Amino acid sequence: MIYVLNGPNLGRLGTREPEIYGSTTFADLERLCLGTGAELGVEVEVRQTDAEHEMIKWLHDAADEGADVVLNPAAWSHYNIAIRDAASMLRGRLVEVHISNIHTREEFRHHSVISAVATGVIAGLGIDGYRLALTHLARFAGNA
Ligand code: DQA
Repeated sequence: MIYVLNGPNLGRLGTREPEIYGSTTFADLERLCLGTGAELGVEVEVRQTDAEHEMIKWLHDAADEGADVVLNPAAWSHYNIAIRDAASMLRGRLVEVHISNIHTREEFRHHSVISAVATGVIAGLGIDGYRLALTHLARFAGNA
């Protein structure tokens, strides 16, 4: 199982600042990830939460399972040490994904506290970043 975990406000994709995040909805993102998983022959589960404790629980569960994770920590990327600590416990690979290029945006978005514990980071490629992250994880695991 590969978990695709999304943090706060990402459930509002499509209507949320479309000039930055595009017009694709969270349902589109979920379809893309499930479709990619099906093509690659890997099981994918897509989740989104605005609640920190829920994300931490999901990361704990992924750590216990030894699962790989694609994580868009959204605003938590920039300040949330509890999410980083939970991400540090993962035993599988962790790909951090940002839809926008955080490095070309406001200064406070340039640093992610998660990146140092991620296997790799994809930013600025829109929701295609999720497809690329899943492709990497499936290839690395020898599935595709
Ligand atoms: C984001 C970038 C973050 O700075 C922002 O807070 C988000 C989304 C992205 O996917 O580009 O909510 O993670």
